[in-house]
Amino acid sequence: MTALTEESTYRALGAHRKSLDSFSIAGALASDPGRASAMTFVHEDMRADLSKSLATTVTLGLLVKLAEARGLPARIEAMFTGEKINVTEHRAVLHVALRNRSNRPILVDGKDVMPEVNAVLAKIRGFVERVQSGAWKGATGKEITDVVNIGIGGSDLGPLMACEALEPYWHPRITPHFVSNVDGAHLGRMIKRLDPETTLFVVASKTFTTEETLSNAKSARGWLTKKLGDQAVAKHFVAVSTNAKEVGAFGIDTANMFEFWDWVGGRYSLWSAIGLSIALTVGMDAFEEMLAGGHAIDEHFRNTPLDRNLPALMGLLGVWHAHFWNAHTHAVLPYDQSMHRFAAYLQQGDMESNGKGVTLSGERVTWDTGPIVWGEPGTNGQHAFYQLIHQGTRLVPIDFLAPMKTKYPLDAYAGIDHHAILLANVIAQSEALALGKTRAQVEAELKKSGMAEGEIEKLAPHKVFLGNRPSNVIFFDELTPRTLGKLIALYEHHIFTQGVVFGVNSFDQWGVELGKQLAKTVLGELRGGAAQPHDVSTKAQLADVMTRRKK
Ligand code: F6P
Repeated sequence: MTALTEESTYRALGAHRKSLDSFSIAGALASDPGRASAMTFVHEDMRADLSKSLATTVTLGLLVKLAEARGLPARIEAMFTGEKINVTEHRAVLHVALRNRSNRPILVDGKDVMPEVNAVLAKIRGFVERVQSGAWKGATGKEITDVVNIGIGGSDLGPLMACEALEPYWHPRITPHFVSNVDGAHLGRMIKRLDPETTLFVVASKTFTTEETLSNAKSARGWLTKKLGDQAVAKHFVAVSTNAKEVGAFGIDTANMFEFWDWVGGRYSLWSAIGLSIALTVGMDAFEEMLAGGHAIDEHFRNTPLDRNLPALMGLLGVWHAHFWNAHTHAVLPYDQSMHRFAAYLQQGDMESNGKGVTLSGERVTWDTGPIVWGEPGTNGQHAFYQLIHQGTRLVPIDFLAPMKTKYPLDAYAGIDHHAILLANVIAQSEALALGKTRAQVEAELKKSGMAEGEIEKLAPHKVFLGNRPSNVIFFDELTPRTLGKLIALYEHHIFTQGVVFGVNSFDQWGVELGKQLAKTVLGELRGGAAQPHDVSTKAQLADVMTRRKK
């Protein structure tokens, strides 16, 4: 495949970028009254305004050409039709099949996967209904009140993020909890507050070999059986995995196992049985609404021309800001407290997918790949890192996300419309970033306040905002399960688009292996095994840890 930077459209983008050296978002918005509508894209209740970006409609046109040159339409088709696009693991990439509410056949190795997908969904529904209705009882006959998902990475971040986002939909008796870190403080602090008689553990692991998850699951099982005996495991432990053998070896009856398949990547797995803890918390109908939301975006991504294709355009704009405006990070800032784990979830989604250094065919890339993704909910970020975004030296492209309605109107208490304050802030932040504040404006303001000339001279430079800082503003009606499904799928396809442009495999994660392997070696030594070869720094650290642990 042609190197990205050798593509003629990439070069054309480079030339176009030069022509935008004196481009200003403020100027573009002022001189072109049609800019906002030309660069706003609507899908159902979702309205994405991309007009406060360092781009023009010409830029978008060139980016679409670049996507075509990189083969995006064919790659989308290849994913949706079950081709083994995860070439290093020889796997199809079919999270889209998990939410394929049209039920259209999707073939992997000539076999339609939809009957199996539907059978697992039916099994999940049956189990969720029994737990929620109280028909499923713990070993001592009590109903389940707490669901503890034990997993890590994709087997944790998605369900955790979604349960938090959908708190208004929780079953009144059921509280979800999430244990991921192998640090004993995670499980240890949680079980202090739990009653084993009413707790259900969902051990979620695609491979069922992940050390953190198995360690936490074994300790949780020990805690439970100490109080309720070994026979209680069947009523208090279920598993979600692709690995029935290991689930059985762990001691969980495979009748209590919910299956998924190797064509579901860990970071794309909340749509699969990995979403069991979501379904147990919000109910199966809400879970299926989330699937339907994801499917709606799939249909849009697959069938909409690229120049109106929202995930594709957002992904391409991300490449534009990163490659041609020197942005290294991407901030996702939801103005919705319920989405407080959304950026953390996307960190794995994006950085494990596109944090790659070689192309699909194994050559080292000579261009930047995936960005550093980060974010916190508004308005908290405003009182933490927005200073840097407004006046620092780095360019941080932002996605602002905000619902128009809240599930928590607090005006009944003190007459304060919290949601209006929240929305005013998101709109204002995007405007401030784009327009900034000139020296003349600052001076006029200070003069008006009565400040002396000499003081104005000293203070003015500190109060200037250069502006011209890009942000996308994405509004939606309300954070429902369907909307959440749409937002997640939107970012999944945004990541996919960027991966195709970069020419990398977005679906493997070899970069997590080396640290895991070395940790095994080090653990062997900490447990008293023979010393292994290490560099001098590592040797000294190991010796220090061993000495101190003996004290
Ligand atoms: O961090 C690597 C990784 O393999 C992720 O891709 C995955 O989501 C996570 O570990 C957990 O893996 P598993 O579900 O197999 O326990």
